[in-house]
Amino acid sequence: MKPVFLLCVSLLPVLINALARSRVLIPLPIATDRIEVHSHEHVPRPNILRAGPNPMPLNSGPVDGRSIPHNTTSATTTAAVKARELLVASTKVQSTVLILARDTLSAYSASSGLNGYGIPFEVVVVPQTGITLPVLNSSSSAGNYGAIVVVSEVSYNYGGTLGFQSAITAAQWAQIYQYQVSFGVRAVRLDVFPSTDLGVTAIGGCCNDGVEQLIQISDTSAFPTSGLKVGAGVSTQGLWHYPATILNATIATPFATFGPSAGFPASSVAGVINNINDRQQMVFFIGFATEWSSTSNYLQHAWIHWATRGLYAGYRRINLNTQVDDMFLESDIYYPAINRTFIITPTDLDQHIAWMDSVNSRLPAGSNYFIEVGHNGNGNIETADDINANERICRPGPIEYGDQIDTALEFQKPLGTGTDIWPTTATTYPYNVTCTAGDLLMNWWSQPSNMNAYAHVSHTFTHEDENNATFADVNREISWNQAWLTQVGIASATKWSPKGLIPPAITGLHNGDALRAWQTNGIVQVVGDNTRPALMNTQNEFWPLITTVADNGFAGIQISPRWATNIYYNCDLPICTVQEWINTSAGNGDWYALLDLEQATNTRHLLGLHRDPFMFHQANLNYVTADLTTINGVTAKLSMLQAWVEVVTQEMVRLTNWPIISLKHDDFSVEFSNRMTRDQCVPSLVYSVDPAAKTITDVTVTANGNTCGAEIPVTVPGPVTDTQGFRTEQVGSDPLTIWVTLTGGAVLTSFTFIAPIPL
Ligand SMILES: *[C@@H]1O[C@H](CO)[C@@H](O)[C@H](O)[C@H]1NC(C)=O
Ligand SMILES: *[C@@H]1O[C@H](CO)[C@@H](O)[C@H](O)[C@H]1NC(C)=O
Ligand SMILES: *[C@@H]1O[C@H](CO)[C@@H](O)[C@H](O)[C@H]1NC(C)=O
Ligand SMILES: *[C@@H]1O[C@H](CO)[C@@H](O)[C@H](O)[C@H]1NC(C)=O
Ligand SMILES: *[C@@H]1O[C@H](CO)[C@@H](O)[C@H](O)[C@H]1NC(C)=O
Ligand SMILES: *[C@@H]1O[C@H](CO)[C@@H](O)[C@H](O)[C@H]1NC(C)=O
Ligand SMILES: *[C@@H]1O[C@H](CO)[C@@H](O)[C@H](O)[C@H]1NC(C)=O
Repeated sequence: MKPVFLLCVSLLPVLINALARSRVLIPLPIATDRIEVHSHEHVPRPNILRAGPNPMPLNSGPVDGRSIPHNTTSATTTAAVKARELLVASTKVQSTVLILARDTLSAYSASSGLNGYGIPFEVVVVPQTGITLPVLNSSSSAGNYGAIVVVSEVSYNYGGTLGFQSAITAAQWAQIYQYQVSFGVRAVRLDVFPSTDLGVTAIGGCCNDGVEQLIQISDTSAFPTSGLKVGAGVSTQGLWHYPATILNATIATPFATFGPSAGFPASSVAGVINNINDRQQMVFFIGFATEWSSTSNYLQHAWIHWATRGLYAGYRRINLNTQVDDMFLESDIYYPAINRTFIITPTDLDQHIAWMDSVNSRLPAGSNYFIEVGHNGNGNIETADDINANERICRPGPIEYGDQIDTALEFQKPLGTGTDIWPTTATTYPYNVTCTAGDLLMNWWSQPSNMNAYAHVSHTFTHEDENNATFADVNREISWNQAWLTQVGIASATKWSPKGLIPPAITGLHNGDALRAWQTNGIVQVVGDNTRPALMNTQNEFWPLITTVADNGFAGIQISPRWATNIYYNCDLPICTVQEWINTSAGNGDWYALLDLEQATNTRHLLGLHRDPFMFHQANLNYVTADLTTINGVTAKLSMLQAWVEVVTQEMVRLTNWPIISLKHDDFSVEFSNRMTRDQCVPSLVYSVDPAAKTITDVTVTANGNTCGAEIPVTVPGPVTDTQGFRTEQVGSDPLTIWVTLTGGAVLTSFTFIAPIPL
């Protein structure tokens, strides 16, 4: 039995840093009449940039007659391959990508990007003892794989005179090559030692710790749909690689280069496309580690688009969703703090509107970035009540209660237990507009042009921790905030999410009474916290988690993943977040070191096609007293959220032409849900190949029973004769995606290309 792993090898839990979870408990000023956000359970843990595990021992013996430290081998091409069979008029090739790797961890570097697009793949782990190859073609006209990816040549050290060799035998390589030629299937080889067989020769191995040698895409003409930019150097630190030179330009065309570095005065070849007697392969002379490296997540789009020819059942969209929690609340500041609190002002928020316009003017065509705000209405009532203390226009006063005791992070409350902490002063929402308008911040938000510049979602009325809360309290937390959002007009904003919620401090997710109270009030899709494995889908990192009675006390609430950042909820200035990063999350360095880490971590998430929103808080939008920050040579006064968005988006724009689009909470929730629904339909494509003309003439969309509860994306590199009335999506310079609805029945859905796609 060959070990076959179908889809969904999620390694995220492995990657989540194992640092001890530290808690920040900030002493509260005793004499306060406000509910303040003083203790979040989700103190973010660091997203530390680190090298992945080293699954294979380094082999430093001779390879290809030279002594260069290496842990892969060179691709063999000695196998004789017959020319493409022309007796067959037409072949059908399944689009599934076959991945051959030494272990599931290294397979992840080939599968994670495909999974990001939703492109079907199959992983076959090849142990040192070898395998029986899966059936590549079932007849001379039916191919089972649309592309083949081999990681590190699946090489092992066999010792003695054998040394380091591929666990795929020469006869099996010959079979793979023959399949490629017969069916026009491309292969990708990641982490390969450059050799004469590939038309190249190695000039060394690089780099030792701390030595940088940049890699860049030098030519995208063979994969134009990738949208990658040429000449943008990215780091190779932690990725062992083999700079090469071209020996035979007839068979090898470079598409990526290494920059000069210590020991390598000139730039060198990092990857080639081989065309050897009609057999096509893309070869990278560098290891991949998509689980920690933003570089690997970037480079993968070159091979994905080349191997698929930009024709796949899948979809790429960069969603940059920045959610700002705690609007209207006052936050205790971590440092430097002499009982210091912070609450955002209209001036800060005005400036962010102008800045969002500026960001959008600098993003690729088709982009639309906006900030989403999570509101706590009781903060409005508190401020208005304070301002009008003598007139008591907010009768019976804002909701106040004593300090709550934190439960364990994943505490599961027995249903029906707990004590109401809300006062009994009113059972239904009691405030009128004279009250809510008694607050400058509310007056600012109530202007349509301000309100409609941002997206909006509820963050509950008072921010009561919901882990141990009662149904009655949570019911009011939700329904009062809804009443307030409706009263002040936010529920009529152009970007408003009535079905969504940012749970306060991401609590309540194992409290069946809280979940029932959400659902009772129409809240069905909330965000979680990716530092907490219990809140993530363990089957597929691109799926949301759907609550169950066993794990959460109530079934059917969708928890979409959300990233934490090192911009902390209780910080208004860099000096604060840097201190908290150092004290709580093993941070090391200054504001720029923190921004470098945020850039590497979060471009990795975006380049990995994750659409999870990012967590921020109101204090992070402090602009009025903000510092100057210099980004890519431009010095400007920036809030911390602005600096974060600038470093992340400027890097994305340096690397790609991809539009960057924000989705409001309810919309990204639907995207997560649809993604899970369509994966469960097992969508795929079948290519029709004309062997004589060497073209793909059309594709057929398939799924289990050819029916699916969600649309299936088919992305095409060129126009089709008829999109058959399906919804189409093409943004900026991105390729066209046809969103296909499959309703079963005997008739198959196919698309014919106006200009057949060359093999
Ligand atoms: C800070 O708060 C504590 C506790 O409420 C109080 O004793 C102290 O006087 C306050 N310090 C300042 C400078 O306000
Ligand atoms: C490959 O060898 C290099 C050079 O010693 C090393 O840095 C790297 O970690 C090794 N990679 C793997 C996956 O073994
Ligand atoms: C696979 O295709 C080759 C080349 O057309 C053919 O010779 C071989 O018989 C096919 N394999 C099967 C199992 O039909
Ligand atoms: C380059 O490769 C082609 C195709 O295999 C071969 O015919 C030619 O002899 C090679 N040239 C050199 C210089 O090795
Ligand atoms: C709003 O409520 C306050 C407190 O009950 C009351 O004094 C005020 O007259 C009310 N305003 C309006 C317009 O009803
Ligand atoms: C939950 O609330 C109940 C009732 O107020 C209390 O007895 C219990 O200790 C609380 N549990 C936790 C874990 O805080
Ligand atoms: C941060 O850590 C330093 C060193 O351990 C400590 O002196 C300081 O009080 C901590 N700062 C805060 C705000 O907790």
